[in-house]
Amino acid sequence: MNLTDKIIHRPRRLRTNPAIRRMVRENHLHPEDLILPLFIVPGENIKKPILSMPGVDQLSIDQAVMVAKEAQELGLGGIILFGIPAKKDGTGSDARSADGIVQRAIAEIKSALPELYIIADTCFCEYTDHGHCGPIKGSSVDNDATIELLGEAAVAQAKAGVDMVAPSGMMDGMVQAIRAGLDSAGYEELPILSYGVKYSSAYYGPFREAAENTPTFGDRRAYQMDSANRLEAIREAALDIDQGADIMMVKPGLAYMDILRDLKNHFDLPLAVYNVSGEYAMVKAAAMQGWIDEKGVVLETLTGFKRAGADLILTYHGLDAARWIR
Ligand code: PBG
Ligand code: ZN
Repeated sequence: MNLTDKIIHRPRRLRTNPAIRRMVRENHLHPEDLILPLFIVPGENIKKPILSMPGVDQLSIDQAVMVAKEAQELGLGGIILFGIPAKKDGTGSDARSADGIVQRAIAEIKSALPELYIIADTCFCEYTDHGHCGPIKGSSVDNDATIELLGEAAVAQAKAGVDMVAPSGMMDGMVQAIRAGLDSAGYEELPILSYGVKYSSAYYGPFREAAENTPTFGDRRAYQMDSANRLEAIREAALDIDQGADIMMVKPGLAYMDILRDLKNHFDLPLAVYNVSGEYAMVKAAAMQGWIDEKGVVLETLTGFKRAGADLILTYHGLDAARWIR
């Protein structure tokens, strides 16, 4: 008997041409899955390239409006804003002030583009003079003081017109404190995207140049998660969901796809993933050398996030990817 006679199942039958491959494709990437991060700086007419993130700039508000318009026209899900204030201090007051950099950006982008969904990062590390995610007590961040201030920051963002707040500081009780702050100010309907599964990571390197939030002493290991841990992610997510998180985020993305899948299997709320600065920088660096096909690598990576369980993907490739998949 011929060896090939025995092959009944031939998966290749469903791969023979683009039409059948398209019909049986399990996951699809859409522009609305993508959220574009923007870095906002004071001033006017500023578009300052971030050297370690080719193609990404620090933007003054007027310039951010232009990029946001592009994001809207390309059908992205929305944008997420990070602010770099003119003046930093011990507690990051700019993040809680009505005319703070991000509050002004939210208001101006909202008035120019009312339909565009605006998320704000809710943390203090870009706003504190020491670069940590909240006020310092002793040698580390004062958790309980920070969450109270986070409630105020979220309300300031809400008053400016933000559509969703996204606490990223990995403080215990942060979702609960923000929920309480928002509710008592009348923003019961404003959702919280929690970066509650955020690992301490070397992949944040380029972001620290972009957001100017490198700690002046120590690191974030006392509040961000240890990259070796998997079960802890389930515990962290459960706590935040319990406190009222509407969407959970895993961060970084590529080295943590197993975690994304774990959360997808355990919980039934929407998940987000942050395709972080270091992941972006590596792709750009190799692409600029001609060593990889940028479009191919980016679309494969983003589709991989969807396959792993992400509903939303925060990515600096947002505009390019949306153009490529249209
Ligand atoms: C800080 C924050 C970080 C990022 C988003 N918000 C990193 C940090 O801990 O410094 C990283 C995003 C990226 O690397 O693209 N709260
Ligand atoms: Zn922070």
